[in-house]
Amino acid sequence: MQLENLAIDIRENILYITINRPKNLNALNIKTIVELDEVFEEYMYNDDVKGVIITGSGEKSFVAGADISEFADFTPEQGRTMSENGHDTFDKIEMYNKPVIAAVNGYALGGGCELAMACHIRVASENAIFGQPEVNLGIIPGYGGTQRLVELIGKGKALELLMTGDSINAALAKELGLVNYVVSPEELMPKCEEIMKKIIGKGPVAVSKVVQCVNAHFRGGGYVGDSYQTEITQFGQCMETEDFVEGTTAFLNKRKPEFKGK
Ligand code: COA
Repeated sequence: MQLENLAIDIRENILYITINRPKNLNALNIKTIVELDEVFEEYMYNDDVKGVIITGSGEKSFVAGADISEFADFTPEQGRTMSENGHDTFDKIEMYNKPVIAAVNGYALGGGCELAMACHIRVASENAIFGQPEVNLGIIPGYGGTQRLVELIGKGKALELLMTGDSINAALAKELGLVNYVVSPEELMPKCEEIMKKIIGKGPVAVSKVVQCVNAHFRGGGYVGDSYQTEITQFGQCMETEDFVEGTTAFLNKRKPEFKGK
């Protein structure tokens, strides 16, 4: 795959995606979104990849937002298309069939905060800064920020951050529930890998069903119309997987399970 704005690497079954536009603090231009979409699509059913960690290149920024220079003269129609495509990609990340962790290594502003929020788990370095500063530009978040921020931190604080455009540091982001952990820059990747390895050791089908069920809560009940029903259906479906047989058999025989993701 030819990638201009992303660097990817696979080590020990983890796909590492680095947003690689350091001169622009890793701002997300449209091509970067397209590449992200392609990479997630490519590895969805690749058994060598059991989880994804996303970070930004350099020490200063995860992603400093959508690329302002690119959309400054957009028409309403172009803006709508940009937002729609971003939504498609970020939805794909949110619903991904493998765990996705954001290693937030600096600025996570605008589209950067939205990208981190689309991931399943967020770990921030102490120097990370979060915010949705779009109102400073006379626009609103267009990649799901008005929804996912409410889901993660609640309506009151979300409205404040979205309406003031204020940025917050990593410690406050953790206090609000926007990130799961805050660690030193050196500990950032090891912490993400520790969490990822723990998840990878579980039944992969079950893990992907957890993601579907949790997201169903925020998506009008998912494909069966009610998120409790989604859980009931997914729970039943677990019983037809080899992972279920392996997990329960291993427990009853007092040994470690060896899941195949089937
Ligand atoms: N889009 C396009 N370019 C961006 C960018 C963005 N979202 N964020 C940063 N850059 C570029 C800057 O224009 C600058 O380019 P230059 O060197 O060619 O002038 C370069 O990245 C470095 O940014 P700079 O502003 O000089 O760094 P800083 O340390 O002084 O400030 C930020 C860092 C993140 C606070 C500041 O860049 C900023 O506010 N960025 C925009 C954030 C934003 O509004 N995001 C939401 C967009 S919808």
